[in-house]
Amino acid sequence: MSFVPVAKASEIPPGSAILVEINNLEIALFRLGDEFYATSNLCIHQGGPLAEGRIDGEQVICPWHHWRFNIKDGTSPLSPKLKLRTFPVKREEDQILIDLP
Ligand code: FES
Repeated sequence: MSFVPVAKASEIPPGSAILVEINNLEIALFRLGDEFYATSNLCIHQGGPLAEGRIDGEQVICPWHHWRFNIKDGTSPLSPKLKLRTFPVKREEDQILIDLP
């Protein structure tokens, strides 16, 4: 486990997300206000690209079939069994780092 720099905070507007491809992982990096969160980019339904989903409050809506997930903890309002993988994120000045397995 180690924090790896992946993006600049100033390049991600609040209320948006970017795709980070690193270590054979596709990660969606979200910005809510001044906080950053990272989940798997791949929807657990059929692999839709969550970094391209619409953000509604603290939820992202998958662009393929509109499943919703909480950006902060990866949970789904549909079922407690449905949960995206999440990754710890930290910010050092303008640098965003993700803790990768
Ligand atoms: S692939 Fe995301 S809702 Fe179907």
